[in-house]
Amino acid sequence: MLVRINDISRHSGKNVEIRGWLYNKRSSGKLHFLQIRDGSGTIQCVVYQGDVSQDDFETCGKIQQESSIIVYGEVKPDDRSDIGFEIGVTTVKLIHESSNYPITPKDHGVSFLLDKRHLWLRSSRPHAILKIRDEISRACRDFMHKNEFTLIDAPIFTPAACEGTSTLFETDYFDQKAYLTQSGQLYMEAAAMAFGNVYCFGPTFRAEKSKTRRHLTEFWMIEPEMAYCDLQQDMVIAEQLVYYVIRQVLSNRSDELKILGRDISKLEKITLPFPRLSYDEAIKKLQELGSDIQWGSDLGGEDETILTKEFDTPILVHRYPKEVKAFYMKGDPDDERCALCVDMLAPEGYGEIIGGGQREDNYTILEKKIAEHNLPKESFEWFLDLRSYGSVEHAGFGMGIERVVAWLCGIQHVRETIPFPRMIQRLYP
Ligand code: 4AD
Ligand code: MG
Repeated sequence: MLVRINDISRHSGKNVEIRGWLYNKRSSGKLHFLQIRDGSGTIQCVVYQGDVSQDDFETCGKIQQESSIIVYGEVKPDDRSDIGFEIGVTTVKLIHESSNYPITPKDHGVSFLLDKRHLWLRSSRPHAILKIRDEISRACRDFMHKNEFTLIDAPIFTPAACEGTSTLFETDYFDQKAYLTQSGQLYMEAAAMAFGNVYCFGPTFRAEKSKTRRHLTEFWMIEPEMAYCDLQQDMVIAEQLVYYVIRQVLSNRSDELKILGRDISKLEKITLPFPRLSYDEAIKKLQELGSDIQWGSDLGGEDETILTKEFDTPILVHRYPKEVKAFYMKGDPDDERCALCVDMLAPEGYGEIIGGGQREDNYTILEKKIAEHNLPKESFEWFLDLRSYGSVEHAGFGMGIERVVAWLCGIQHVRETIPFPRMIQRLYP
């Protein structure tokens, strides 16, 4: 019977078939110990000379790492095994012989491993990270579904900038210019007026010239948008989403977190609500902590690291100066210098994982802001239209999946959080 390794415990004492690849091997006299992985897990398969044909025994003696192989044998409980079982092999079938696999159990540099990313995905660490990424994406969708948000897919080709013109990827689009989307937000604003609560979840693109551990040129973002919603309510949805994601990862991906050596006590102690800090308060705190940041500047990666080290949970920093935020933000009626926006900063020095806020819903003010930001009004006519026909208070946010994966996995650089990372100097494989 064909069985997946992660399901092996249900087949104790039975004869099974495992289809996989040779992860590692050790031999001693009449025994070969094959570590076989099948994508769902890894199991030790013990090949004893007396139990298999001479041919099969010799095959096991010569096969190399990553050969594809099918084994048949009995599932035996084994206390020393991580998964509690091993296979007593009776037959092996070599499917394809691999030789000189470039990624060996010794240490390799990250740059080499990224060049071999198509193969590196098979190793335990990237495998664990991408299983957690999958869990995070699923948890996001679950949360949205449970809260009655409708999925509305945003376009990838767009006529204009959403997040500033300096990070646009331009492409020829027949006889005009198009840009790869930086965010689906503007389209979600249209959809929120049609459906109420909506979200999009897809790839977004930024020609980021900075090489940092937090930036990719292609990354995935989930972007909820809510009609009849203000900044306070927006912050509540954002913290509930993040809390739900953490709980799902802790309950369903503990094996993977262990492979990564993640200190899960730091995630377990996170509770709702997350602390709220105005930008004003954040600047004061940073100055107390020795930073020379002045009121008016955006928080840089370094500032976020310093600030978040002071907290055990994510924090919500709201009401930044208008100048450092995008054109669509609504102004704060209590302080005209500020915008009704929010960033969620993750603890342990990870920094911004969410950016969002309340949107400008007044036609005249928005029109003025588009002009002030030197944006082409023709490309935004449709967006202004939303303020002509039943405009309402609305808000939303975008959460970068790779930043969340990096934080929950406890890894330093976002390049390992996406299957095939795209950065300034990386377009291959
Ligand atoms: O703060 P940002 O730029 O906000 C927006 O794009 C809004 N339009 C979203 C919205 O309100 N619907 O980006 C949102 C998040 C950041 O907090 C970060 O997690 C992630 O997207 N992000 C990046 N992740 C990886 N690489 C990059 N270059 C990123 N730029 C932003
Ligand atoms: Mg931001």
